[in-house]
Amino acid sequence: MTPIIETQSLVKVYRADGVETPALRGVDLAVAPGEFVSIMGPSGCGKSTLLYLLGLLATPTEGTVRIDGQDAGTLGDGGRTRLRRRHIGYVFQRFNLLPTLSAEENVGLPMRLRGERPGSAPREMLRAVGLEEKRRRRPNQLSVGEQQRVAIARALATRPTVLLADEPTGNLDSEASDRVMDLVGRLHRGTGQAIVLITHNRQVADRADRLIRMHDGRLVDA
Ligand SMILES: Nc1ncnc2c1ncn2[C@@H]1O[C@H](COP(=O)(O)OP(=O)(O)O)[C@@H](O)[C@H]1O
Ligand SMILES: [Mg+2]
Repeated sequence: MTPIIETQSLVKVYRADGVETPALRGVDLAVAPGEFVSIMGPSGCGKSTLLYLLGLLATPTEGTVRIDGQDAGTLGDGGRTRLRRRHIGYVFQRFNLLPTLSAEENVGLPMRLRGERPGSAPREMLRAVGLEEKRRRRPNQLSVGEQQRVAIARALATRPTVLLADEPTGNLDSEASDRVMDLVGRLHRGTGQAIVLITHNRQVADRADRLIRMHDGRLVDA
């Protein structure tokens, strides 16, 4: 079976003010369709960089990223954007909700960006995360845990084949964290999406099919 995500010898070196920071030093990762993978590792080891590259939000210095068998490096910006919009839902650590839009409008935004009319889908996604009643509120009228649930609803609204989540419970207390992870697990079982989830929390990581550890820009055996 073709992996839904596959990287080969992925290297990322940041260059800023004449300083080179190697963030990834050769990452080979394959994620099967429907697989739930968690990634743990110390701060600065390259987790967010890896997720950005998997989400086609940045380009590697060397190596390849394939999504559903397609080598993203052979595509132009437009092709990469289409590949991302077709396959990837992304939950950012700091949510990145648009402050002037309601929860419902935030959830509908990725569909609009794909040229689709959201219709009732955002409301249904917000119902799935337990926030239908609060769908007209703006982000600053929601708790941090609620904002994270809106961000998850937004990531899932386009029914992506892969959900990429960067510490989705990092800003939540343990009760809100459990609720978010119950939700992710339920949605995963219901839809068969692949998930790559970064976390510092071992209990969160243990919900995955497979736990990968990262250290200094490399994957290490768990
Ligand atoms: N935009 C950037 N410019 C320069 N260096 C960066 C940039 N983003 C991250 N880094 C560096 O790359 C390394 C990996 O960062 P990151 O992927 O954010 O790690 P993690 O998510 O595991 O904490 C760190 O040394 C970090 O300082
Ligand atoms: Mg990070």
